[in-house]
Amino acid sequence: MASSSWPENVGIRAIEVIFPSQYVDQTELEQFDGASTGKYTIGLGQAKMGFCSDREDVNSLCLTVVSRLLERHQIKHTEIGRLEVGTETIVDKSKSVKSVLMQLFAESGNTDIEGLDTTNACYGGTAALFNAANWIESSSWDGRYALAVCADIAVYAKGAARPTGGAGAIAMLVGPHAPLVLERGLRATHMEHAYDFYKPDLGSEYPVVDGKLSIQCYLSALDICYRLYRKKFEKQHPEQSGAGLDNFDAILFHTPFCKLVQKSVGRLSFNDFLLSSEDKRVEKFAGLERFSTATLEGSYFDRDVEKAFLTQSAEVFEAKTKKSLLLANQVGNMYTPSVYSGLVSLLIGVPAAQLVDKRIGVFSYGSGLAASMYSIKVTKDAAAFEQFVDKLAYVQPMLNSREKVVPEQFSSLMEVREKNNHAAPYTPTGSISALFPGTYYLKDVDALHRRTYERTPTISNGVH
Ligand code: HMG
Repeated sequence: MASSSWPENVGIRAIEVIFPSQYVDQTELEQFDGASTGKYTIGLGQAKMGFCSDREDVNSLCLTVVSRLLERHQIKHTEIGRLEVGTETIVDKSKSVKSVLMQLFAESGNTDIEGLDTTNACYGGTAALFNAANWIESSSWDGRYALAVCADIAVYAKGAARPTGGAGAIAMLVGPHAPLVLERGLRATHMEHAYDFYKPDLGSEYPVVDGKLSIQCYLSALDICYRLYRKKFEKQHPEQSGAGLDNFDAILFHTPFCKLVQKSVGRLSFNDFLLSSEDKRVEKFAGLERFSTATLEGSYFDRDVEKAFLTQSAEVFEAKTKKSLLLANQVGNMYTPSVYSGLVSLLIGVPAAQLVDKRIGVFSYGSGLAASMYSIKVTKDAAAFEQFVDKLAYVQPMLNSREKVVPEQFSSLMEVREKNNHAAPYTPTGSISALFPGTYYLKDVDALHRRTYERTPTISNGVH
C-alpha cells in the first residue's frame, strides 16, 4: 500500500487513568518496616503507594477504566474494532482479560472486536499500544477505533521491594487524526533473555526479583534503545544529527521508582557525551572530560559517573521529565500502565500551550526483558489538544480524595490477598464503600473459579 493512502496521524485520541482509592504513606511505611528514615521517600523518591484490597483484581481494574473511557468520551461500543490488553497480573492461565471485557460490549451486540492479551512484565501495555496502532495502519483495518488497555496490581512480599509496589489502569483510544501521534519509523526495540524479575510461582502474586540485576538490565536496555532511536531519528532528520536529548521536548520513562528515572536522564546524557565529537564535549560537557574513557558496561553502578551526569542533566530532568513523575510518586509502580501514567502526569502538569507541536520521547521497559524507545508528536492544533487535555481535569482531584490507610492495615490487607489468591469459592471482605464511584469490584468467586463483578454507583449519568 502506498504510504500516501495510510490513515494519517495515527495515535492516542483519548486516555483514561484510574488508581486505587486507598494508599499508604511511604514515610509511615519506612517506620513500620524498620527502614532508615528517608530510604523510601528520598532514596527511592516515593511519597505514597496505592494498593487494592481483595475487592479489586486485574479484570475489575480493566472493566472500570474501559467503561470510564467510553462513557466520558461518549464513544459507542460499536465504534471499537480492536481491543488489546497488556498485563502481567494473571488471574487465569487460559481465559484472557479481554474476554472478560467483552461483557461491556454484550448489550451493543458488538462481538466483532479483534485483539487479546499480551504479557511480558511492564512492557505489555506498549505491546498493546503498538498492536492497536499497527492494526489501524494495516490492511485489516475496518475504519473503527482500537483500544489499548493496560492494568496491573504490583505487590511484593515483605522486604526491600515492597515499597516499590503500586496499582492502576490506563485505557487509550487509538485512531487516526490523533492529538498524540506515534511517529512513524521512530521505534527502537531491544529484547533479550534475563532473569531480573519474573513470576514463576503461579500460585502467588509476588515476583522473584533480583533488584540489582533488574536495575542493570533496565539501564542497559535504556542505553541500547536510546542509541538505536538516535540512529533512526538522525536518518529521518539528518539536519538534527548530534542533538541527542535536545531533540525531545519531554522524556517519559517506565517508573519502578522515581529515583531510577532521574538517574536514567543522567544516563541518556552520559550516552550523548560518549557519542559527542571532541568539540561538542568541550562546548556542552565542560569539566567532564575525565569520563571520556568510561564505558557503558562498566558504569551501571559507578557512583562518579552517576553523580557527574545527574548534575549535568539536572536542568533537563527539571524541564523535560520531572512533571511526568506525579502519579508514579503518588501511586507507585503500576507496572504496564506506569509509563502511560507518566504521559498523563505530563499532560496535566504542563500547560497545554507549551506542548503543542512538541516531541515526547517514551522509554518502556518490562523485565525479562523487553524494551522500546519511541516518540510521540503532539498535534499542531492547539484547540484540539486543549480539549483532549481538559478531559484529564479529574485526575488531581481524584488523587486528593484518596483515603490514607496506616501501614498495619495495609499489611493485613496484603495478607488477606496473599492467603486468598486463587481461593474458590471466595467472597472478598474488602470495603466496597472505600472504592471510588463507578468502580467495578469483585463480588465473588464461585466453586468453579468463575468471577462475578458489580459496580459502585456512578455520579451524574456515568460522567465521573
Ligand atoms: P534496596 O537494595 O534495599 O535499597 O532496595 P538500597 O539499599 O539500594 O537503597 C535504595 C536507595 O536509597 C539507594 O540510593 C540508597 O543509597 C538510598 P542509591 O545509592 O542507589 O542512589 N537510601 C537512602 N536515601 C536517603 N535516606 C536514607 C537512605 N537509605 C538508603 N535513609 C530495590 C531497592 C530497588 C533493589 C528494591 O526496592 C527492589 O528490588 N525493587 C523491585 C525491583 C525494581 O523496582 N527494579 C527496577 C528496575 S526493573 C523494572 O523497572 C521492572 C519492574 O517494573 C517489573 C516489570 O517489568 O514488571 C520492576
